[in-house]
Amino acid sequence: MTTLVIGAGGQIGRMIVRKLHESGKPVIAMLRKPDAELESLGIDIRFADLEEDFSHALTGCDQVIFTAGSGAKTGADKTILVDMWGAIKAIDAANKAGIKHFVMVSSRGAEDPDNGPAAIKHYSVCKKMADDHLLASGLNYTILRPGRLLNEPATGGFSSAMPEAKEAQIITREDVADACIYCLQTSGTVNKIYPLVNGNQPLANALN
Ligand SMILES: NC(=O)c1ccc[n+]([C@@H]2O[C@H](COP(=O)([O-])OP(=O)(O)OC[C@H]3O[C@@H](n4cnc5c(N)ncnc54)[C@H](OP(=O)(O)O)[C@@H]3O)[C@@H](O)[C@H]2O)c1
Repeated sequence: MTTLVIGAGGQIGRMIVRKLHESGKPVIAMLRKPDAELESLGIDIRFADLEEDFSHALTGCDQVIFTAGSGAKTGADKTILVDMWGAIKAIDAANKAGIKHFVMVSSRGAEDPDNGPAAIKHYSVCKKMADDHLLASGLNYTILRPGRLLNEPATGGFSSAMPEAKEAQIITREDVADACIYCLQTSGTVNKIYPLVNGNQPLANALN
């Protein structure tokens, strides 16, 4: 099974690509620009941009992890064009390409944008629209809705119960990367939506 990672040059995407490659799993990295680190590892790279036609990136792929995002430094226009419209186009392209499992890195707040922080409501709406499109697509999906991302190493501890306290709604990027890979490899996660934070359980218990 060959996995296309969309957002492969990003912090989570890069970890997913490295981990799949190091464990001998076929992986293709979708990138917007050359990447010396991934190229030096001999990773199969497809140059493509979510704001353009990127359908060629899916050729020969069986599974997709979508972990792209426009980031906090760009405006709401890019959130719409990348996080929502780019994701929707990726879901449609995956459907056309016969992708067997689509794992989406969504976000806490996507379940109910009206009750989240006003400052990021547009982001939560975009994430929800993309998630809803995936739900309606007919694709096998797993949607992960992580809390605030941290750069510390993996903890190996997870919970799919989003805590009430905002300060506890956190998870390391490496743990999210491990969760994405676990979902690809675990049929029990198909057609499920998981809030995701660091906690006390192994993935097999948290995502049961
Ligand atoms: N920050 C948080 O606390 C938080 C919480 C929950 C969920 N999330 C979500 O987690 C995901 C990944 O987070 P991260 O920290 O790994 O993000 P990141 O480091 O900012 O990586 C995002 C990637 O998306 C790529 N990208 C942006 N626009 C693109 C386009 N038009 N076409 C193709 N690729 C494009 C970027 O490409 P370049 O490398 O070319 O720039 C980058 O590699 C995002 O979807 C984010 O919304 C974040």
